[in-house]
Amino acid sequence: MKAIVVHQNGGPEVLKYEDAPRPQPKDDEILIRVMAAAVNPVDIAIREGHFGGRADFPFIPGMDVAGIVEQAGRKVTRFKKGDAVYAYLSFEEQGGYAEFVVTKENHAALKPKSIDFEHAAAVPLAATTAWQALVDKAGLKADQTVLIHGGSGGVGTFAVQIAKARRAKVIATASAANQDLLKELGVDQPIDYTTTKFEDVVKDVDVVLNGVRGDSLARSYGVVKKGGIIVSITGPPDPAELEKHGIRGTSFGAEPDAKILEDLAKLIDSKRITPVVSAVIPLAEVAKAHQQIASQHTRGKIVLKVAEAPKSQP
Ligand SMILES: NC(=O)c1ccc[n+]([C@@H]2O[C@H](COP(=O)([O-])OP(=O)(O)OC[C@H]3O[C@@H](n4cnc5c(N)ncnc54)[C@H](OP(=O)(O)O)[C@@H]3O)[C@@H](O)[C@H]2O)c1
Repeated sequence: MKAIVVHQNGGPEVLKYEDAPRPQPKDDEILIRVMAAAVNPVDIAIREGHFGGRADFPFIPGMDVAGIVEQAGRKVTRFKKGDAVYAYLSFEEQGGYAEFVVTKENHAALKPKSIDFEHAAAVPLAATTAWQALVDKAGLKADQTVLIHGGSGGVGTFAVQIAKARRAKVIATASAANQDLLKELGVDQPIDYTTTKFEDVVKDVDVVLNGVRGDSLARSYGVVKKGGIIVSITGPPDPAELEKHGIRGTSFGAEPDAKILEDLAKLIDSKRITPVVSAVIPLAEVAKAHQQIASQHTRGKIVLKVAEAPKSQP
């Protein structure tokens, strides 16, 4: 099969488009014929050898795919050959930048029916992260107010829509170029961080989701109401600041969860969530996608096209 293979850590030039052996599913795994894969900032950290790195060269990166089940392991109960699925491949699995990948069945779910494979591939890691932050960690409820830093990015575009689906009031930050996108996604109070300091116009929120690097976390403690929570996906909050302000805080690493993918598929098919894909790039040109993601100014998601979907599929 064709795949993007990494033989050594380094810049985008270490992403080689070449032949690789087709993986074989174990009893509890499915083999997916990949139609599309998405690119995440963590892929760049792994390529560079950060984030614990990977020592098992050569490896195939990529943690998000959408495709069709080619083969199901003996103990697999939820899928059969021919099912259209999307999956969040774990850190240990990866391998999504390829024509075929294997994953445990509990990292996959049936693909939302109303969107194509490219939009489906954009969902798993980013939307699961947003869900685990807002629902599992923050317990966001209707009529609460959430401030989302980085509302126009991969995680942010899903976080905004998940929060709106839970009938929360949403405040979100992005640059001037992405203010229209924030409004289209339903943000109640969009903030252009290039002209307005959020701490000048925001106070007493129930939840902050911090999805950007830099000083946004350090500036957030004072805008949360007593008893509220900061969930950071880019580094841990400072315990002393949390205590000083009488608030809670946490950071975490997202994990694959098939139930969340199933719930997301329902929200997508009922039009409560629409994945934002700003570019679809051929698999062989993955280096372009990594360069774009490294800018930290991607709008929504960047997706790699791996194969043409069969005519029977959207
Ligand atoms: N802990 C975890 O499990 C986990 C999971 C997923 C992601 N992450 C991390 O979370 C971060 C976000 O991930 P992602 O996939 O959403 O990244 P992304 O798609 O690359 O995010 C890009 C977005 O960030 C916005 N942005 C950049 N600087 C900003 C600022 N100062 N204020 C507000 N918005 C700003 C950009 O908007 P403008 O272009 O308008 O500036 C852009 O739309 C990354 O650092 C990623 O590594 C962690």
